[in-house]
Amino acid sequence: MKKNAVVLGTQWGDEGKGKIVDLLTDKADAVVRFQGGHNAGHTLIINGHKTVLHLVPSGILREGVDCYIGNGVVVEPQALLKEIKQLEEANVDVKSRLKISSAAPIIMPYHILLDQLREKAKGGKAIGTTGRGIGPAYEDKVARRGIRFGDLFSPQRLKEKLSETLSYHNFVIEHYFKQQPLDFDSVYQQALAYGEELKQMNADVTAELHKLQQQGKSILLEGAQGSLLDIDHGTYPFVTSSNTTAGAASTGTGLGVTDINYVLGITKAYTTRVGSGPFPTELFDDDGKMLAKNGVEFGATTGRPRRCGWLDLVALKRAIQINGVTGICVTKLDVLDTFEKIKLCTAYQVAEQELSEFPASAEAWENIQPIYESMDGWMSKTQGMTEINDLPAQALALIDKIESYTGSPVHMISTGPDRNENIIIHNPFE
Ligand code: GDP
Ligand code: IMO
Ligand code: MG
Repeated sequence: MKKNAVVLGTQWGDEGKGKIVDLLTDKADAVVRFQGGHNAGHTLIINGHKTVLHLVPSGILREGVDCYIGNGVVVEPQALLKEIKQLEEANVDVKSRLKISSAAPIIMPYHILLDQLREKAKGGKAIGTTGRGIGPAYEDKVARRGIRFGDLFSPQRLKEKLSETLSYHNFVIEHYFKQQPLDFDSVYQQALAYGEELKQMNADVTAELHKLQQQGKSILLEGAQGSLLDIDHGTYPFVTSSNTTAGAASTGTGLGVTDINYVLGITKAYTTRVGSGPFPTELFDDDGKMLAKNGVEFGATTGRPRRCGWLDLVALKRAIQINGVTGICVTKLDVLDTFEKIKLCTAYQVAEQELSEFPASAEAWENIQPIYESMDGWMSKTQGMTEINDLPAQALALIDKIESYTGSPVHMISTGPDRNENIIIHNPFE
């Protein structure tokens, strides 16, 4: 039976989704992004050669795999064109293989400006966004005043929508933030010019995906960010502005929820976070430094150092539940190769109380202390391993602990950044 599978992050992003999507597209016919935008940075390493993708789906390096950007993704035309150009320079043809939903909201220059002005105004309370205009673009979508990809090809319609939306935002830019308003003509002309360059990719992606389904093809739905950055279920307000969880794979593409047969939850063997917000297992000691160093934990989009800490099983269990995860893929196991002791957070302490559930409110996060279980490290090289039987007993014990705590099976283990460094216990497409 052909399958459609979602691949998504179960933590705060950067779990290694891109690598796994690239790996699995070996067996999938198409890849579709369903939420987020170019705030994502997905790293693919093939025979030592590194490619970082932001908007283009991580199936683009497999010839013959169709790539789609669904209606749930916010598209910044300039960033997309830059990414396409870089791929073309590496002899990857994008324009003939990528289709973009005409319903996808566009990130306009005022969204980027507003994102940055707001963050600056928040000072010490900033969210630490990627400054890419993601939040303001999603706000316009929900406010029903957004410009959509399909509008770029209809000059009159674009003009009408833009004049209304821009005057609204210019008012805030000028009178609230005391900045220069944006010039209508230049924003309009630029949007039309981007439209010209992107026109051949405009499509009814929902219809195309259903056509693929009818032909018995397998579709991989590529998540961005992570479950704990979800606008509803994450550590609000320190979240991104989209639903990053499995339901968005349906709403962000137009595939039905029952069309999705499998959810792969990508889980780093420890935890990282970029930007502000709660992170109970964050480390500030030598262990944290070693995680950052061994894992090369710098943002693939902004280059910011990532905050590092131990694996948080309480948060992971919640992520498994809200996504209906079928199987877990543990990534970056090799990063733990040099640790004598490995800790796992199995509950939270709040004042005198022990909590085994992920708190729902931001306020409840403030005084949380992790309660750890300590496991022996394996102190040997797992990097590059491809066979489960080769893993040291202590590494297998860690995998067992993740399975027993979350109640979800580990189906894959990533043992290095390269495409070939994996232990595959169960391939979602087989
Ligand atoms: P994504 O946003 O979830 O796609 O993840 P990123 O690409 O932002 O960050 C993951 C980083 O870890 C990238 O630099 C990958 O090359 C790297 N990586 C992925 N899997 C592994 C692994 O199993 N071991 C090691 N050492 N690095 C990995
Ligand atoms: P991938 O797909 C890690 C974080 C930002 C910030 C918050 C809101 O590579 O895993 P935004 O610009 O989205 O409004 O920022 O979300 N963030 C990510 N963190 N990986 C990502 O993507 C992220 N995309 C957004 O750092 O804390
Ligand atoms: Mg990333």
